[in-house]
Amino acid sequence: MSLLQIDNLSQRFSNAGQQHTAFSELSFTLDAGEFLCIIGPSGCGKTTLLRSIAGFLTPSSGQVLLNGQPVRSPGQHCAMIFQTFDQLFPWRTVLGNVSYPLLVQKKAANKRQAKEQAERYLDMVGLRNFSSYYPHQLSGGMKQRVAIARALALQPSLILMDEPFASLDADTRTMLQRELKRLWSESGLTVLFVTHSIIEAIALSTKVLALGAGPPSLRLFEDNPVQGPRGQLKTPSSPGYSEYWSKLNAVVRP
Ligand SMILES: Nc1ncnc2c1ncn2[C@@H]1O[C@H](COP(=O)(O)OP(=O)(O)OP(=O)(O)O)[C@@H](O)[C@H]1O
Ligand SMILES: [Mg+2]
Repeated sequence: MSLLQIDNLSQRFSNAGQQHTAFSELSFTLDAGEFLCIIGPSGCGKTTLLRSIAGFLTPSSGQVLLNGQPVRSPGQHCAMIFQTFDQLFPWRTVLGNVSYPLLVQKKAANKRQAKEQAERYLDMVGLRNFSSYYPHQLSGGMKQRVAIARALALQPSLILMDEPFASLDADTRTMLQRELKRLWSESGLTVLFVTHSIIEAIALSTKVLALGAGPPSLRLFEDNPVQGPRGQLKTPSSPGYSEYWSKLNAVVRP
């Protein structure tokens, strides 16, 4: 059985009496351990799709199945990481931001265990020495690393990332892409990652989903054919890179 099954899913909104379709008739399945990058032009429904999978939205039609069970409300199955830097609790330290949800979600038996688990994940993202800092004392990239550590520590079935590195400078972005790919390969996580960057999608993904104006919204869903060592970013020197870049570019910007 697939970890995630999207079954003829459509999401419509009504605004001031007008119907608007974010995406429609979307079907695909994803196995555990995949790294799916979702691309497509602005407004094609990428964020809405992540929110539907997280259970924040009730589908207009179709369904989202996780391990064969319909997702009906937000729960501990998903952790979501956003583009904005203000997703941390400003009144908690770095350590508190990671350890507190572990206690709330009962992923740690007591405060000491939550602290130990949080420290392990802060170590992974290179922030152990910043445990006592507050979010306003961190750079944008460091805040995103705390958000990643918090999501990883909760060990959800799925990690949903909505353009998490879009507001970062190029060097920090590449560094975090490398870290994320390494963490993914070491942990066996399943990641859904929205990006506007074809370069980022090729670098990170095992599979690519492209959306466009519908119906139907699905433009492409396939394995990333570019070869490279697991856990490392694919680069322009990876075999098959330029052909695949051209293909995705034509799909996203026809
Ligand atoms: N809560 C809402 N109410 C009404 N319309 C909405 C709502 N959320 C999203 N939409 C509409 O759904 C469409 C898809 O929005 P969405 O945010 O999913 O796009 P996106 O692909 O993430 O775009 P971007 O790349 O700019 O982030 C848009 O036309 C948007 O106006
Ligand atoms: Mg979006």
